[in-house]
Amino acid sequence: MTTRRALLEILADGHFHSGEALGAKIGITRAGIWKQLRALAGLGLTVYAVRGRGYRLDQPIEFLQAEAIQENLLVAARERLHQLIVLHEVDSTNSHLKSLALQGTASGTACLAEWQRQGRGRRGRHWVSPFGSSLYLSILWRFPTGPAALAGLSLAVGVALARAMPSSVGLGLGLKWPNDLQWKGQKLGGILVEIAGESSGPSYAVIGVGVNLRMPACAGGTIDQPWTDLSRICTEIPSRNALAAAVLTQLIIALQTFESDGLSSFMNDLRDWDVTAGRAVQLDLPSGVIKGHAQGIADDGSIMIQVGDELRRYASGEISLRMTT
Ligand code: BTN
Repeated sequence: MTTRRALLEILADGHFHSGEALGAKIGITRAGIWKQLRALAGLGLTVYAVRGRGYRLDQPIEFLQAEAIQENLLVAARERLHQLIVLHEVDSTNSHLKSLALQGTASGTACLAEWQRQGRGRRGRHWVSPFGSSLYLSILWRFPTGPAALAGLSLAVGVALARAMPSSVGLGLGLKWPNDLQWKGQKLGGILVEIAGESSGPSYAVIGVGVNLRMPACAGGTIDQPWTDLSRICTEIPSRNALAAAVLTQLIIALQTFESDGLSSFMNDLRDWDVTAGRAVQLDLPSGVIKGHAQGIADDGSIMIQVGDELRRYASGEISLRMTT
């Protein structure tokens, strides 16, 4: 075990530990402890130092445990899970699975990490991924069809993610087309689906989801849009391993359904959770900006926008949507 991991395992309880006690437990000097503690900021963690009491994290950490996650999967999901990889750190769980996919790794391989050094969001954006505080989960799924048949996949994944949220999240939950999980207008989670394959099939998708669970203060300060996390909106903070199991279960079930029936059985939930319908919106397309009023989601997953007299439809792709009222 590395010194950093040993230190994190002690601090994970969220209580104060003196520099002396930490040094003695880990077997390094107090100066060494101080250096290690300072480095934790680089993992997105906030450490409080109080004279006479020692050091503590601003919130406890529940480490990810593959067995606990697997045990909590519904049987239907467990049967289709090929492998569950839990990493201490990684550049990005999506990037990791993409390279495994190229080496022939089987469909149904999932990957979770405590920390992403370079978490990726849609449209080349950075996904803030502090250590041990949220959920960073990707799954590789292979399809016999070509990439064109997977156009609505990220919308189905959005529904799966919303279905996996704890019931105590309540009525504020919504989906902002194409695939932001929101709570009362604040971002709670995001989806990054990366697809590759032959035009006539087969193809594969690496589906990555990030859910904010307990965002440390310093990492939250670097997010450039309104956000929230489950610790702020649930009456009881969900267990990270239980949340991972719930998300993985819903993802695997949704992937099987999408594989056999496409988007049709997701449409009711998609429309129920759609927060854009009836709102003034702005679409940022590669070709420019469009302003109009959202009129709901069509059966193929495209969004319908009233622009002047014209009802236009836009498929997701590299589009970003903002509600302007
Ligand atoms: C977005 O809303 O922009 C999409 C965010 C997707 C983040 C997840 S976290 C797990 C997976 N690995 C990544 O690097 N990104 C996705």
